[in-house]
Amino acid sequence: MNDILPDEARRWQRIESTFRETAGLYGYGEVRTPLIEDTSLFVRQIGETTDVVEKEMYTFDRHGESLTVRPEGTAGAARAYVEHNISNKEPVSRWYYLGPMFRGERPAKGRYRQFYQAGCELYGDAGPVSDAELIELSVRVLSTLGIGDLRVHVSSLGSGDTRERYREALLAHLTPNKASLSEDSQRRLEKNPLRILDSKDPKDRAAAEGAPSILEVLSEQDREHFDGVRRGLDALGVEHVVDTKLVRGLDYYTRTLFEIKAEGADLGAQSTVCGGGRYDGMIESLGGAAVPAIGFAMGLERILVAMGASEAVTRRTAVYVAVMFDGGIAPALKLAKQARDLGIGCEVDSKGAKLKAMLKRADASGARLCVIVGEDEIAKGSVTVKDLAERSQEEVALDSFQAFLSQQKVLLTSHARAD
Ligand code: HAM
Repeated sequence: MNDILPDEARRWQRIESTFRETAGLYGYGEVRTPLIEDTSLFVRQIGETTDVVEKEMYTFDRHGESLTVRPEGTAGAARAYVEHNISNKEPVSRWYYLGPMFRGERPAKGRYRQFYQAGCELYGDAGPVSDAELIELSVRVLSTLGIGDLRVHVSSLGSGDTRERYREALLAHLTPNKASLSEDSQRRLEKNPLRILDSKDPKDRAAAEGAPSILEVLSEQDREHFDGVRRGLDALGVEHVVDTKLVRGLDYYTRTLFEIKAEGADLGAQSTVCGGGRYDGMIESLGGAAVPAIGFAMGLERILVAMGASEAVTRRTAVYVAVMFDGGIAPALKLAKQARDLGIGCEVDSKGAKLKAMLKRADASGARLCVIVGEDEIAKGSVTVKDLAERSQEEVALDSFQAFLSQQKVLLTSHARAD
C-alpha cells in the first residue's frame, strides 16, 4: 500500500480528470459504491476457485456477518444496479467509478495490495457495437494520457454451452498430463480447467501447450458477436490482436474478453494496464432482470509508470508573498487574500529571512511573482513585485495591487495550472 504525496497526487489528478472527461464523452455517469460488501457477493460473482477469492480477499467478521473489502468494482456496481432497480428506469445505463481496490497479492512493481482502478460498466446492450465502443473508450483514455505502444488483446469465451464444450475439450487435453500440472492446477482441473491456461507456473504452461483454442468451439451466434466486435474495432481504427490464450482472473465473463498492455513501459509481468469483458449473466444471477453487461477497469499505478516521468510537476502557486518585517504580516495577508479572491494561487512566507534567502525560497516554490512586503515600501503604501521568470521588478501601490494582478490574471492562472 502506498502513500501518495502532493506532487505525485497532481499526476493522479491528471489521470482521474482525463478519465472522467473521456467517460463523459460517451455518456457515462459516476457511481460510488461502498468499499465493503458481503463476502458472498464476491465469492459468487468472481468465482470460488479464482486466486482473488481463494487467496487475496481481505475478509473479516463483524456483527455476525462476513464482510470483504472490495477487490474490484464490477460486483458492487452490479449489486447497486439490481438493488436500485435501474433496469426498470432506463434501458441502457453507463456507469463509471474511480477508487481503491484491495487484494492481498504478493507485492511487485505495478502490483499492490491497495491499488486504484478507474472503470466503466455498461448495462442493457448486448450488441457487439457496445463492446467495440467500450474498448475504444479505454484506448482513448490511455492515448490521451500520452501512453504509446499499446497492444489491445481480444478474445471470446463464448456463452451458454460453448464454455461447457470448451471445458470438456480442455479436460480431454489436460487430464492425460494431470500429474505434471502444478498442485493448484491439479486441484482445480475438474472445476475450472480454463484457469490453467492463465497459470504462470512453467509446469502448467508446458501442459497447456497445444491445447485447443476456444475460438474453435464458439457457437455460431458467439462467433457472429465476436466478428461484430472486431468489425467495430476496425471501423473505429483500433488495432488489436486476437489472443486465444487470454484468460482473465475473474470467472464472471461471457463472450468478449479484452486486455490492453503497455508494451513500452517498464512494468515487467504487470504490463496489463486495462482489462475487461462482457458478463451477461451477472445481473440476473444477483436477482435482477436478464440484463447484459460489459465493462473494464484500468490500474492507475500502472498507468502512472507507463506515462513515465515526463509529467514531472513543480508548479504550485503563482504568487509568493515574502514578509520582510513583523509589521508586514497584516498587509501581506490582505494581499494574499486579494490574489485568491481573483482565483490566483498564492503562498505567504512569514518565516523571516534576508532578501536573498527569501528570493531563493520564492524561486524554489515555482511561483512566477514574488511580492516583497518590506518596511520602507509599506511606509510608502506600496510593495515591490518581482517577476521571477523575467527577472524584472516594479513597485505597485497597495491600493492598486488587485488591479495589477487582475491584468496578469491569464498569465498567473495558467502558470498555476502548468502541470
Ligand atoms: P482485473 O483484470 O482484475 O479486472 O483488474 C483490472 C486492472 O486493474 C488490471 O489490468 C491492472 O491494471 C489493475 N490491477 C489489478 N490488480 C492490481 C494490483 N494488485 N495492483 C495494481 N494494479 C492492479 C477487474 O478488476 C474487473 N473488475 C474489470 C472489469 C470491469 N470487467 C468488467 N468490468
